[in-house]
Amino acid sequence: MNTLKDVNADKLPKHVAVIMDGNGRWAKQRGKLRVFGHQNGVEAVRKTVENCAKLQIQFLTLYAFSTENWKRPKIEVETLMKLLVSSLRKELKTLDKNNIKLSAIGNINSLPSKAQKELAEVISKTSENTGMTLTLALSYGSREEIELAVKEIAIKVKNNIISPDNIDEAVINTHLYTHFLPDVDLLIRTSGEHRISNFLLWQIAYAELYFIDVFWPDFREHHLVEAILSYQNRERRFGKTSEQLN
Ligand code: IPE
Ligand code: IPE
Ligand code: MG
Repeated sequence: MNTLKDVNADKLPKHVAVIMDGNGRWAKQRGKLRVFGHQNGVEAVRKTVENCAKLQIQFLTLYAFSTENWKRPKIEVETLMKLLVSSLRKELKTLDKNNIKLSAIGNINSLPSKAQKELAEVISKTSENTGMTLTLALSYGSREEIELAVKEIAIKVKNNIISPDNIDEAVINTHLYTHFLPDVDLLIRTSGEHRISNFLLWQIAYAELYFIDVFWPDFREHHLVEAILSYQNRERRFGKTSEQLN
């Protein structure tokens, strides 16, 4: 099995994003309720965060709750929000120990006030850390993010702050939740689903995609390493020819 040592430190993805999927099916396979899967997903989050920090990945973004996930049964949504609060509380030490700075993207105001408070506290307490930036996508939807950006830019045009001629990719970037993040280099989705589910549509324009069949609670170091090794074996051409790159 591959370990962190097998990764080429000179060719790391700068920004790794993960769609942590399959908690419900993991639980169902064991004859348990879906929330049992979410509880066990927390361990996979901890390990992945620590492993990425050890590898010195600069940016890790985790899709924890989508705008569409609000449509799930009330009890499941409540459990996910409670897990968020308890995990933030428990993991503050681990984040600090690993010099990790926490941030969040999404409609944070729509989260229960307890979760907002806990999140704000951990973000503020880790704000001086200089290692990896860990971003949690919470009540995040890429289309909503783009809609908000368009609205903000439109207001600035109306108030003569920006001219339409000056709207370019950089301007759009600064109006997204992710304005402080570089584009995604590697996007991983667990659970065998091959879709994006409204995650970082703009930011993954040139990301390398990696899909793996394991359910999120089973995602471990060697799976992460396999994803990064796959990334390191690919040629990223960004529209150019292979010859132009060499
Ligand atoms: C991912 O696992 C966690 C969240 C979306 C919050 P799921 O809960 O989607 O698990 P499956 O896909 O139903 O197995
Ligand atoms: C995507 O997973 C959202 C998160 C992992 C937080 P879903 O399980 O909600 O996605 P769909 O509904 O299968 O596309
Ligand atoms: Mg799912």
